[in-house]
Amino acid sequence: MCGIVGAIAQRNVSDILLEGLKRLEYRGYDSAGMALIDDPEKGISTIKTVGKVAKLVEAAHKRDASGKLGIAHTRWATHGRITRANAHPHGSGDRISLVHNGIIENHESLRQELAAAGYRFATQTDTEVIAHLIRQALENGASSLLEAVTSAIAKLRGAFGLCVIDRQQPDRLVVARCGMSLVIGDGIGGENFVASDPLALGQVTDRFIYLEEGDVAQLTCDSIEVWNGGRRVKREIATLSGKASEMDKGGYQHFMQKEIFEQPQAIRDTLSGRVSGDHVLEEAFGVEAGKIFDKVEQVQIVACGTSFHAGLVAKYWLESIARMPCQVDIASDYRYRDIIVQPGTLFVAVSQSGETADTLAALRYAADRKHVATLAICNVATSSLVRESDFCLLTMAGQEIGVASTKAFTTQLTLLLILAIVLGRRNGLAGKDEARLVRDMNRLPELVDRTLKLDGEIRKLSKQFSDKNHSLFLGRGIQYPVAKEGALKLKEISYIHAEAYPAGELKHGPLALVDSDMPVIVVAPNNDLLDKLRSNLSEVSARGGKLYVFADEGIGLESDRGCKVINLPGCPEVLDPILFTVPLQLLSYHAAIIKGTDIDHPRNLAKSVTVE
Ligand code: G6P
Repeated sequence: MCGIVGAIAQRNVSDILLEGLKRLEYRGYDSAGMALIDDPEKGISTIKTVGKVAKLVEAAHKRDASGKLGIAHTRWATHGRITRANAHPHGSGDRISLVHNGIIENHESLRQELAAAGYRFATQTDTEVIAHLIRQALENGASSLLEAVTSAIAKLRGAFGLCVIDRQQPDRLVVARCGMSLVIGDGIGGENFVASDPLALGQVTDRFIYLEEGDVAQLTCDSIEVWNGGRRVKREIATLSGKASEMDKGGYQHFMQKEIFEQPQAIRDTLSGRVSGDHVLEEAFGVEAGKIFDKVEQVQIVACGTSFHAGLVAKYWLESIARMPCQVDIASDYRYRDIIVQPGTLFVAVSQSGETADTLAALRYAADRKHVATLAICNVATSSLVRESDFCLLTMAGQEIGVASTKAFTTQLTLLLILAIVLGRRNGLAGKDEARLVRDMNRLPELVDRTLKLDGEIRKLSKQFSDKNHSLFLGRGIQYPVAKEGALKLKEISYIHAEAYPAGELKHGPLALVDSDMPVIVVAPNNDLLDKLRSNLSEVSARGGKLYVFADEGIGLESDRGCKVINLPGCPEVLDPILFTVPLQLLSYHAAIIKGTDIDHPRNLAKSVTVE
């Protein structure tokens, strides 16, 4: 995923830009570049390198790069191969230079029009059309860079975050946001910044303006002006605590708690650039991804722990949305099996860390056996799994420190749902259905946010677990893996024994365990299996079992003596597994607090299991 940094100041900004790029390395990239204006008479100086930011730093220092206005970028190739020429910044003439995150879907037609008008293309990227459109607008009489950018972006379709400089207006930087996050850093004493993540600017400011959809902003040394729909708008400045970073708890008691509450943003970041208003942006998956997806007839998912549960949920989506068979295996089992690979199988390894020994071994095992391709769904761009897979989709959860995985899981689910849509497109998923699914997904951050408001209620409920040693989690269909994940969370951090069962299996054994000492936790969404689930609840109540039901508010279930109901906001059915995971995370967290365990470092467990 590309990263942007920009700066305007009364001092040399090159080291600030390079430091910003280093801080964005976690996003994953394959080349990097920077453009600076020092003396406008001498033009724009641009440096680009393929590979790590460290190479760009070396090249910049060798050339003694300096300038008071500059933009910089890490590129993750989508259009055009990984080459120096395709790395950003991209220019037009020797006047405009810009960096871009995202995808311009109508770049082909724009390229033809611009070429016919005499603009020459030096790269294979979709980005270059934007640079030419801006120059064209200036040549056609736009009175300022801001006006030129506004008129150029009106012609673009897709998702973008942009940062532009103009040699003839070296006192300003213009930025625009449409579908990709962008923040402005309000600097101290005559300098201002922009970046795709506030993390990139932590060394220069703690005051940020989060741009909203459709915002275009002009930054000078002393001013920040934001426009939307042709009108000047006011955006609040948010101060991030001086210590705010992924490595501190930011006011939360534990990393796990912080990470649970970061989920709306983590999901937003994971969706960013991958979906537009009503469709998935397939190119975001990489240059060759489309051709690979065309060949896929079925999917094999392999993972461990929480990531395995994400795979189990995905199986339901791949069947119902993509109409494709899907097999899900635990990596430690898969790697030693005499597997049979059906033609057209896409191998998908899901992992937060990308370093789990069994998952890596499974990937290496699969790589030798005629899969269409190997795909990593992973949270760490620099991990072995990402490096060794044919292609990858990065969850943009940010660093996850708590051993019990939370935001990595919900962002894995987010990407697996996107994968199901991309494969579904090739297998009869209608455009209107894709549009509905994407609209639903775009509601996710807000729905998760509302679900997190149940925290107080769940904290109270968790008190009832303080003297319990065992528990049962029930779910039907796609909610069974959610119940499994809930049980895993509870056992790993509170050390309460927890078992998950598909609710339909209750009568085949676990019912024998049910008594007043065995809490039964149930996830009850509003779907076709609801009536069957109600019967399962009655089976538990009839045996004196105590029920804790997380229910969709739409089903109208009410608490009574043997059954405590917590209502979740109603949501589109496809989102149920993601939404219902959240209260189970909170329940485990609060139960563990009462038990007094070491929540972020539970006994005997490791965050990344790099040995077999
Ligand atoms: C360990 C962690 C779990 C994680 C599992 C798989 O057991 O404690 O939280 O789910 O490894 O890790 P991965 O990094 O491959 O997702």
